[in-house]
Amino acid sequence: MDELTILGIESSCDDTGAAVITGTPGTARILSSVVEGQGALHAPFGGVVPEIAARAHAERLDGCVTRALSDAGLTLSQVDAIAVTAGPGLIGGVLSGVMCAKGLAAASGKPLVGVNHLAGHALTPRLTDATPFPYLMLLVSGGHCQFLLVRGPQAFTRLGGTIDDAPGEAFDKAARLLALPQPGGPSVEAEARKGDATRIAFPRPLLDRPGCDFSFSGLKTALLRNRDTLMEGDALRAGDRADLCAGFQSAVVDVLREKTRRALAIYLEDAPEQPTLAVAGGVAANGPIRAALKTLCAETGTQFTAPPLALCTDNAAMIAYAGLERFCLGESDGMDLSARPRWPLDRSAPGMLGSGKKGAKA
Ligand code: KG4
Ligand code: ZN
Repeated sequence: MDELTILGIESSCDDTGAAVITGTPGTARILSSVVEGQGALHAPFGGVVPEIAARAHAERLDGCVTRALSDAGLTLSQVDAIAVTAGPGLIGGVLSGVMCAKGLAAASGKPLVGVNHLAGHALTPRLTDATPFPYLMLLVSGGHCQFLLVRGPQAFTRLGGTIDDAPGEAFDKAARLLALPQPGGPSVEAEARKGDATRIAFPRPLLDRPGCDFSFSGLKTALLRNRDTLMEGDALRAGDRADLCAGFQSAVVDVLREKTRRALAIYLEDAPEQPTLAVAGGVAANGPIRAALKTLCAETGTQFTAPPLALCTDNAAMIAYAGLERFCLGESDGMDLSARPRWPLDRSAPGMLGSGKKGAKA
């Protein structure tokens, strides 16, 4: 198969991205990847403000695309197609990206390929490790939480997901309740290292129910209640804070371990030739979570893979890659490509309730 060069554009949440990749499905290389985060713009509001995000994307997309092309040493006329996130996400941001891509496609005559943002995340192990289908994907970040059985470039089965918060969101909220710095994951993990995970009891939400769905919002409430009983006036003793973090984190680890065990069992039923669990998202950086998942994989003869963090978090290289896979199936879009706030990868799976500060989670 001839190598193709794809320009990718991402703007579904609070990262503006443009990237160029080249290659074929399973053997693609990243020529450039530009990501401009908007953390500082949203920080004063304690979450992503959709209108601010949309405006920032609209202002920055041109510059990101120009840089991505020049970093790759190419001009627009040398790319074969333009891939863009067409959903799910914060609609203003998605629209900014889709309009930018349509403008570029109209001006250059290049094909336009709409990409599902979640497919971008889910196909990343093929870009980074040439992981063969079928593999099991666990997406765990501040905005996503789901198991996907990835059977092909457009064949995804969702085995479960969160019904409320994403795990990263739970870590961030926990940190806020304990006056620890954001992002909460790394600071809660560091505190937890000093604490006793067995001293304070935390629930293990949804473990008593069958299936692979998660719920994390109850953990935050449990943390708040436990914190308030331990507070002396306005103060929390350092030892108590560490124990709260350790207890909270250990509950998240237990829940992720058990649900992953169940999802793996479903995936392994079909006896895949090279069984692989891929984990992506910021939460996959957590030491105890990673260790628990690696142990599970070792027990079941499953390979464990986690793309490098820069490709786990929102970026346009994954969008360009998902666009490449789709374009190679002979698919592209017209100027009627629409931006979609919700766009489940697995249409047969029931809709999830989770839709927090970072937009749709399913
Ligand atoms: O994938 P990501 O960088 O981006 C978005 O969700 O947009 O994930 C960020 C999330 C944050 O909520 C952060 O607290 C969490 O990942 N995170 C962690 C750790 N490092 C980052 N959670 C637990 N433990 C960590 N070490
Ligand atoms: Zn994402």
